[in-house]
Amino acid sequence: MRISRALVSALFASLCYATPVLVSTTSGLLQGSQTNGVSSFKGIRFGQPPTGALRWEPPVPFISASLQNVTTLGPACVQQFAFASSALDQFLFNNPADPPAESEDCLFLNVWAPASAKQKLPVLVWIYGGALSFGTASLPTYDGTSFAANQNIVVISPLAGNNLGFLDQELALLWVQENIAKFNGDPDQVTIMGQSAGAQSVSYAISRHNPGNAPFRAGIMLSGAQVSTSPIPTFASFNNFSAAVGCTQAPGPARLACLKQVPEATIRNFTNGPSSGSFTPVVDDVTVFSDPLERIRTGLTARVPFIIGNMQDDGSVFAVGLTDLSAFLTATFDGLVTADEVRPLYPGLNDSQIISEIIKDAEFLCPAELWSGAAVGAGVANVFRYTYGAVFADLQLFPGAGAWHSSELPEIFGTFIPATATAAEVTLSHTMQTAVANFIKNPTAAPAPNWPKYVPGSLTTTLAKLAYNGNVDADNVVQAVESDSIVHSHRHSVILGTALFWTLFYLNGVTAARLETTLQLQSSALKRGMDSPITFILSHLPVGYFIYSLSSPVNGIGQP
Ligand SMILES: *[C@@H]1O[C@H](CO)[C@@H](O)[C@H](O)[C@H]1NC(C)=O
Ligand SMILES: *[C@@H]1O[C@H](CO)[C@@H](O)[C@H](O)[C@H]1NC(C)=O
Ligand SMILES: *[C@@H]1O[C@H](CO)[C@@H](O)[C@H](O)[C@H]1NC(C)=O
Ligand SMILES: *[C@@H]1O[C@H](CO)[C@@H](O)[C@H](O)[C@H]1NC(C)=O
Repeated sequence: MRISRALVSALFASLCYATPVLVSTTSGLLQGSQTNGVSSFKGIRFGQPPTGALRWEPPVPFISASLQNVTTLGPACVQQFAFASSALDQFLFNNPADPPAESEDCLFLNVWAPASAKQKLPVLVWIYGGALSFGTASLPTYDGTSFAANQNIVVISPLAGNNLGFLDQELALLWVQENIAKFNGDPDQVTIMGQSAGAQSVSYAISRHNPGNAPFRAGIMLSGAQVSTSPIPTFASFNNFSAAVGCTQAPGPARLACLKQVPEATIRNFTNGPSSGSFTPVVDDVTVFSDPLERIRTGLTARVPFIIGNMQDDGSVFAVGLTDLSAFLTATFDGLVTADEVRPLYPGLNDSQIISEIIKDAEFLCPAELWSGAAVGAGVANVFRYTYGAVFADLQLFPGAGAWHSSELPEIFGTFIPATATAAEVTLSHTMQTAVANFIKNPTAAPAPNWPKYVPGSLTTTLAKLAYNGNVDADNVVQAVESDSIVHSHRHSVILGTALFWTLFYLNGVTAARLETTLQLQSSALKRGMDSPITFILSHLPVGYFIYSLSSPVNGIGQP
């Protein structure tokens, strides 16, 4: 019986034969297909088209009782590629050989599920990256077939956008709660995983849900997490956009009514143009909070287990073409530090490499340090930290890209190129997939042998270096090294740094982004063994601010 079933499915696979399969959901009677023991349902509509009267309104659930053919991936949301880096962003995140169709009507998700589950299975919800302005769940890299087939879990990838996009993500998570049991998934065993802006989305979700009410039980943040956002929202980009597309009314219902009439193509043209501005999340104290770390410390967030980490060379793709360290520091830190002061922090590296390292530190490594330190300090029991170092020739984007931002994804999803993958690459894919699946199945146990729970401070060896130096087997993929988080053992420094942050913000009118990078640079300096990073940073600031920060009440952080 078992043999004949295997033979039959092998035959089906060789003929590319897909059996139809039906599942009843709130989105209708879904007709998906089954190939090789995996049922796939692509392009499931979970929200009504957010167009016309529903444009720029909170998403509305799509409820149906009729038959829905769900065998083709939905379109990407309308993409915004930053004008200056458009080509690179599309190369990295938009499958340029076969770019997905785009539509404002993009509230779809995909489900991959083992076809013959005997019991309720754990569920992985994947949130794709792309700076919260581009990207799509339909990239071939994100196909959930391999994961569902090899690891016996249910994989879901919703589509989403910006601040309203977080509401879209919440609607997708609600859909999972209501429907996933129909696919043999267990709504009580949901893990949300994302990379880059997807990882930030996971962090926003953890910080917006209070203990006990999250529609997930664990999180995985691959290269990204929100550190802080200005509490004062700016609508300059949206106001400029409104005027540029001919809606010159004052902000309010009349302007919104006008904007709902603007053709999608006009919006895309403006948002991809040279003066588009950027549409980053704004603090609304509902979907986005100003200071997620303080919320973690005070126990306001979902206290779920999580994995968080970054790539060894997370900055390399963002540093392409950047060689002028002084210009980079001026643009990034507004002249707070000079090249001569920064170079000794990165010994042995040339200026291009230093820029890459600073981007990694500020955007990816420090958020992982800060999140893991804050959560463990607040008593969250199962936090796992990693840094990933695998480099394979057929995954290199350019010479020296190293373990670049996103290069772990083909390994985790099992979507590497079979024709060019080395034996080590294939082994690592299985190892990484198993580690992620182990965590999804039991987030309170080690994801891989010898992967300890993270303890901040420099007294323990609990930071997992993954897949460095050709270590790709399950039993050697982890090399635990000294922890590096500053938050626990150096909490005082961070409080000072954070207070300084707010002080600068309110007294000096600098942007929250700069405050954030100040704190991150401080953290980075500490990691690199500086005697007194606080002194290092403060020495670049007017003395008055230092004094003010010392006398400002620490408990006032977040509500100055
Ligand atoms: C469902 O969609 C697929 C792909 O577009 C198509 O081949 C198939 O005929 C459709 N089935 C039905 C019942 O419409
Ligand atoms: C497209 O955008 C450019 C610059 O942003 C603008 O000059 C042009 O008029 C726009 N075209 C359309 C058709 O909206
Ligand atoms: C808005 O437009 C003004 C005038 O063109 C420009 O100076 C400003 O930089 C723009 N702001 C954003 C955020 O794009
Ligand atoms: C920096 O060093 C790397 C690695 O040796 C090298 O590939 C790159 O060309 C150097 N960049 C500059 C600007 O010297």
